[in-house]
Amino acid sequence: MPSKSHTWYQKHTSDPYVKRAQKEGYRSRAVYKLLEIQEKDRLIKPGMTLVDLGSAPGGWSQVAVKLVGKKGRAIALDILPMDPIEGVEFIQGDFREEAILVQLLATLQETPVDIIISDLAPNISGMAVVDIPRSIYLAELALELAQQVLKPKGTLVMKVFQGEGFEGLLKSLRTQFTKVVSRKPAASKSKSKELYLVSTGYKGS
Ligand SMILES: C[S@@+](CC[C@H](N)C(=O)[O-])C[C@H]1O[C@@H](n2cnc3c(N)ncnc32)[C@H](O)[C@@H]1O
Repeated sequence: MPSKSHTWYQKHTSDPYVKRAQKEGYRSRAVYKLLEIQEKDRLIKPGMTLVDLGSAPGGWSQVAVKLVGKKGRAIALDILPMDPIEGVEFIQGDFREEAILVQLLATLQETPVDIIISDLAPNISGMAVVDIPRSIYLAELALELAQQVLKPKGTLVMKVFQGEGFEGLLKSLRTQFTKVVSRKPAASKSKSKELYLVSTGYKGS
């Protein structure tokens, strides 16, 4: 019987998005999720200041830095290392730690942020009771960051796993943003509980 990791490797390498990412020079298949959201909602624009949370290996950052252009700014953060991308300022650290938040705020130097994109996902244990609360917690932290740095009318895009705590988060987003919609891009596996909440029109703190 093939081992679990062998089966995963076979599935991964035969995934059309993995193949396409390799062909098109992107670091992750996740890039096609952001590209689909961008095509639909046109959120990232030239000149914007953008924060990319959970950025490694860097697919979203590759796209984001191009979209904000030379007049914009892209700051990426991940607990894992990330190979440099020209024009992207990278912070390595655990977003749950206060010291990393302080580092991010220092990097921003009080520049108001136009958009936060978060693909943060916990290490998947396979147990929903563990994974969903961890995902919701990371999303809540992303929302807290938004409350500190986002411009009025700013945007927050974040991955969230559906389950306990999801409705509460959604309610909170709806009070703080003019519009909240969910997106399930084609590259997001149908059996995965993840979806992306796109919140626009931040009302300000
Ligand atoms: C789905 S991957 C992101 C893929 C990325 N958007 C791309 O296109 O390459 C999720 C990322 O969240 C990061 N992550 C999870 N928990 C984190 C934490 N507490 N602090 C910082 N990064 C975290 C993981 O290390 C992982 O790289």
